[in-house]
Amino acid sequence: MKTVQIAIDGPAGAGKSTIAKRIAESFNYVYIDTGAMYRAITLKAMRLNLDFDDPDGFGFIDSTDFAYHEGKLIMDGEDVSDRIRSRDISNNVSLVSSYLSVRKKTVKRQQEIAQNINVVMDGRDIGTNVLVNAQYKFFLTASVQTRARRRYKENLERGIMSTLEDLQREIEMRDQFDSTREHSPLKAASDAIVIDTSNMSIDEVVTIIKRKVREDE
Ligand code: DC
Repeated sequence: MKTVQIAIDGPAGAGKSTIAKRIAESFNYVYIDTGAMYRAITLKAMRLNLDFDDPDGFGFIDSTDFAYHEGKLIMDGEDVSDRIRSRDISNNVSLVSSYLSVRKKTVKRQQEIAQNINVVMDGRDIGTNVLVNAQYKFFLTASVQTRARRRYKENLERGIMSTLEDLQREIEMRDQFDSTREHSPLKAASDAIVIDTSNMSIDEVVTIIKRKVREDE
């Protein structure tokens, strides 16, 4: 039986993960958050006291085990889902994920995980690089102000202290870095449907995506 792949890309705070999770739940597909894998690699590099400026220091990825279980990321047997959301990780993950050596290893893992299953995968390069043959590709955007507000709310719910101004600045910096990096910069695939979610509720975006997928069933 042919499997279905849905790619959801876009910048930080565009609503990707909430929306991708909802789509996966409603179709009973597996949800894979690829940003979580880059965050977990950053966490492991931090614990190993590695120099983030050295692109050659990430050989440990080859012997690291990653598994997604009920939306949680398990690295080497440890559920790191909460730990990887902290600001020390957020502020270093863009650099780590910009290295070609890191991306090659990570993309390969992601492609292996998505093989032979129905999957909703979110990230920055899913439609352009990881799942180029995905049947459905969506690129979600939103204004920087909207995205900062959403992150602020999320952080409050997680008990993480932050100010709106700091978050907006950090998001702008990450956007700039992610979209101008040399390898797989953040951009919409030419065959992706672009949705600006600034003035839309989660439900509205979910409905649009579900309708598009159902149209073809
Ligand atoms: O979606 P997120 O904020 O958890 O992603 C963390 C970082 O990982 C982000 O700065 C860009 C990078 N990333 C990437 O380069 N490619 C992906 N497919 C997913 C995330």
